[in-house]
Amino acid sequence: MMGLESQVRRYVCRRVYKPMDGGSTSPLLVQANDREKTVPIKLVMKLRHPPNGEGTSHVGSTSLIAELVASLLARAVGVMVPDFGVIELSEELAGVSAPEEPEIRVALKESVGENFASALIGQVEPWMDVTFGRRPSGGLKDNANAVLQFDASIWNADRGVDTTNLLVDGEDLYCIDHSMSFAVRDQATQVACPPIQDGIVERHCTRPVLLRSGVSPDCLLKKWFDLPGQVFDEVEQAVPTAWETTPGDNARIVEFARRRRDVFAENRAKLVRVVS
Ligand SMILES: Nc1ncnc2c1ncn2[C@@H]1O[C@H](COP(=O)(O)OP(=O)(O)O)[C@@H](O)[C@H]1O
Ligand SMILES: [Mg+2]
Repeated sequence: MMGLESQVRRYVCRRVYKPMDGGSTSPLLVQANDREKTVPIKLVMKLRHPPNGEGTSHVGSTSLIAELVASLLARAVGVMVPDFGVIELSEELAGVSAPEEPEIRVALKESVGENFASALIGQVEPWMDVTFGRRPSGGLKDNANAVLQFDASIWNADRGVDTTNLLVDGEDLYCIDHSMSFAVRDQATQVACPPIQDGIVERHCTRPVLLRSGVSPDCLLKKWFDLPGQVFDEVEQAVPTAWETTPGDNARIVEFARRRRDVFAENRAKLVRVVS
C-alpha cells in the first residue's frame, strides 16, 4: 500500500474557539488551514498536554500517537474516521487565545507545536438514539460490526455504552477518540499482547444491535490479519517524534498493533461468543 503518510494531513491552527461538549480532555474547536486546501476549515484539536492530562483518559502526548496510529489503521482496513492529521499551534496563537477556562489557556501554552486534529463532523446523531428499539439497516449493522472488530484489534475500551465515541451520519459511523487504544497505559500488557478482555467487548456500544441482528465477526479481523508488514512500517514513520513521552513509545505501540494478528483466533472466538 502506497502513501499512507499522505493521509496524515498538515494543518496550521488559525483560531481557537472553545472546548467541545463531552469528553474529558477538553478537545478544542478550532479554525485551521489545510496545507492542501485554500479555504479554512473547522477541526477538533486534541492537545499534547490537555487539562486533566494525567487523568484516566490520557497518557500525555503518547495518547496522540495512539490517535494517529488508530486513524491510519482504520483507513487501512476500511473503518471510517474523520480526516485527521497533525496541527501546528504557534506560540503567538497559544498566547493570545483566551478560552474562559484558565486551565485551557495553560494547556495551550504547554502544547505549542504539533498536536492531533480531526475534521469536525457536523449534524451527527448520538449512537443510542439511532439504534434504540429499532432493527438496524444492513449497512448500519455491517458498519457496527466493523467497529467492534476494529476495537478488538486495537484494544480499545473507550466505546462502551456510556462513552460511545461514535459519530453517526445515516448509516455511516465515524470512529473518534483512540487515545487509550493499544494498551497505552500499560506496557506489560503491550509486551504480552493478549486478546482483548471479555468486558471490553461485552460492554461495547454496538453489542445490543449486533445481538438483535446476528452477524459474523469475520471480514475485518481477517483484513487486519492480512495487512502487509509495510503498512505498519509506514504508520510508524508517520508519527511525529515529539509525541513520545518515553523514547520508544511509537515503536512499542506500532509493534503491539502489528502483533495483534497473533491473537486473531482468540479474538475471533471471543467476538463470536459475545455477539451470538
Ligand atoms: N471530529 C469530530 N467531529 C465532531 N465532533 C467531535 C469530533 N471529535 C470530537 N468530537 C466531540 O468532542 C467530544 C470529545 O472528543 P474526544 O476525542 O472523545 O475527547 P476525549 O478524549 O476527551 O474523550 C466527543 O465526544 C465528540 O462529541
Ligand atoms: Mg471521548
